[in-house]
This record gives sequence, C-alpha cells and structure tokens, in this order.
Amino acid sequence: MGILLDNGRILLSEDFIIDKIIDREEEKKKIEEWINKKIGLIYIYGSSGTGKTHVIKKILENYKDKTVLYLNCSATNTFYKIMVNCLEKLKELKFIEKFHEKGLSGSELFSMLREAIEKNSVYFILVVDEINRLKLEDIDNLMYIGLDAINNYKNGWVFIIAISNDVMLDTKFSEAVKSRLSIKIHFPRYNVQQILDILEEYAKLSLIENSYTREDLFKIAEYVGNLTGDIRLAKRLLLSIAEKSDSRLDISKMAEAITENEKFMWEREIRKLSIELRLTLLAVIEANRFYEKKRETFVTANLKRFIFSSRIEPNLKNIYKHYCLICEEYGFNPKSEITFRNSIDELDRQMLIRKEVKGLGRGKGVTSLVYLRGYADVLEPIIRKSIEEVI
Ligand SMILES: Nc1ncnc2c1ncn2[C@@H]1O[C@H](COP(=O)(O)OP(=O)(O)O)[C@@H](O)[C@H]1O
Ligand SMILES: [Mg+2]
Repeated sequence: MGILLDNGRILLSEDFIIDKIIDREEEKKKIEEWINKKIGLIYIYGSSGTGKTHVIKKILENYKDKTVLYLNCSATNTFYKIMVNCLEKLKELKFIEKFHEKGLSGSELFSMLREAIEKNSVYFILVVDEINRLKLEDIDNLMYIGLDAINNYKNGWVFIIAISNDVMLDTKFSEAVKSRLSIKIHFPRYNVQQILDILEEYAKLSLIENSYTREDLFKIAEYVGNLTGDIRLAKRLLLSIAEKSDSRLDISKMAEAITENEKFMWEREIRKLSIELRLTLLAVIEANRFYEKKRETFVTANLKRFIFSSRIEPNLKNIYKHYCLICEEYGFNPKSEITFRNSIDELDRQMLIRKEVKGLGRGKGVTSLVYLRGYADVLEPIIRKSIEEVI
C-alpha cells in the first residue's frame, strides 16, 4: 500500500517549489519593491532552508518580460563562469552575436557584458544564489557590477540579487562593498509553528487524505524547529517516514529516519569534494577529536583555568600535522601548508566546517580555530569510506 500520492515523492524532494508561499509574503513584497525602484544591488541572507530560493524564484516568474538570469554557485562557482553565463543569455536573446571567451579574463568579459547592455538598453536582472560558495574576490567583483550600474550606466540597467546561506558572510566583504551595500534582507529561521504550517501544506499535496494527523506533523516540526529550522530537513524526514509507512504515517519511524537522513546528507556533500578536500576534512575531524580528549583531561584535572585556551582548541598548525599523518596513512604526498590553508577555506565556504579567527590577546596576533559542523562519529566512517573508494 503506502501513503504517498503519485507525485508525492517529487513534491517532497528538496528543490521542488510549490505554488504557495507560506509566511514569507512580507519578504517577497520588500524585494519586489526594491526591484521596481531600480537599485543596482540587494543582498539576501539567511541559513539553509529559510525559503530564500523559493521566494526569489516565485518573484522571477513575474519578470518574464525582463532579461532574467538565475544562477546557483554550486555549479557556477567563479566570477568568470558567471560572466560567461550572462553573455550566453544575451546571445540567446540576440543582443549579441557569437563571442569567444577563450583567453579573456573575467573583467574583460564584464566589459563586453556592460557594453552590450548599454548598447541595447537591456534591463538585466541577475540572481546569484549561494554566493557563499564563491571566493571573496569573486563576490566583490560580482557586487561591483551592481554598484557600478547605479552610478555609471547611461542606458540599460543591471540589477544584482546576491543570496547567501552563510549569515556571517557580509562581515567578510571588502570595505568598498560593505560601505556601499545598503539593502540587506534577512530571512530568519523558521520556528516550530511556521514549519508546521509549511509541512501541513506539503502533506496535503503529497500524502493520502486522513493518513496523518497534525500531531504527527508537529513532532517533525518540533524536532526540526529546535535543531536548525531547515525546511529541507523537515520535508526529507516527512518523505522518509512516509516511505516507511503502510496505511498511516508511522511517526515511530522518526528516529530511524533521522539517522538515515544525516548519513545521506553528509554522503552527498562529501561526494562533491576532491580527494584533497576529503583528506583535509578528515584531518579536521581527527584534530577535533584529539582536542576534545585533551580538554576533558584538563577539565577532570581542574586545570582548565591555567591553560591558555588556544592550546586546547584545534588551530590550523595542529590540524596541518594531523593532515600530514593522514596523507601518510593513505599513501598520499601531503600538499604544502599554504595549499592546505586554501583547502580549509574551501571547506568553510562549502559550510562543512566553521573557521573562527580569534585574537590571542593584545599585541599577540590572531589564530584560526576550525570546528566541525556535523558529528565526528557520523562523519568519520563516511569520509574514510569515500577516501578508500578513490584509492
Ligand atoms: N515559505 C515557504 N512556503 C512554502 N515552501 C517553502 C517555504 N520556504 C521554504 N519552502 C520549501 O522548502 C525547501 C527549502 O527552501 P529554499 O527556498 O530552498 O531554502 P533556502 O534557499 O533558504 O536554502 C524548498 O523546497 C522550498 O520550496
Ligand atoms: Mg537556496
């Protein structure tokens, strides 16, 4: 039997967007107002699963008469690629003829884009989603396009909508961008009630009538709301519990669904990483384990207040040592410390780890501490398996 309707699986898949927008009308209205005001740049931010992509895609449906391009940085991951995509869009709409990007730089491509826009009086709306996956200088270049449009275009217009899943990202923008970025729109995390409202809508569309109760959905909403507030997780849990159910939503399967989901999510993220990044992530896991043990010893011996905290926190130098050991274990040549640091930044951008820069006290400089975003016990076997698969 089962309780999923024919297209239930599709409806509950992560990226499927239903027609309704629940509880985000205000954000939608605000964004639309800014678009109509001919501002060059807005910045939208909020953690994963807060409805940013959903709302923006709904908005774009109303701008079909304009030149609209939506890009996501998990695929379009450099400024250069963003420019190539923009030019291709203009070519598709016959604003420009063939162009050859080979041998040109990102900024040369940008000049071509600008010229085409002015010449044809194009009103161009460019949405770049998940910009936290870009390098900082690429983000600056992207933002600059919108800031430049405000001041310098005689004909045509570019409107940049930059979206980030990393709520702290704007603290890392260059001063030039920071000081001129005036419109920021925050998508706060959903609370339990909002998650329940959204889940109910999805349940209504994807499950057999009367096969679930509001109390069942509340249990999922409560769990997710107290964890990350990520709607994506709520939808996945609902799907996975529904798949395990016969004639009624069997909420007793929730624990099982949570474990499966956690594993699935990490497997998918880790599969996207190069071998180098997998080794680096494993080093972060090992180092965090090591320091956790060390901290415990200090706490037990009641010595914590005597020891300078950065000595019992995982800093970059120490993680690099773990990295070298891991490379040796798997028979790889360790890369230089500079390359390693770049890998750490890349993992930070992919939101697999969290890098925190800490001051060491007056006149003593700074150190970077690196933490995991998932549980070491879940992550370690997954990542080891993924490394063994490659070798
Ligand atoms: N307010 C909402 N109403 C209906 N569905 C929503 C709402 N917010 C999020 N969703 C759904 O939840 C999932 C995750 O939302 P998404 O917009 O991708 O989050 P974000 O882009 O902020 O990470 C999508 O399937 C989306 O359609
Ligand atoms: Mg999104």
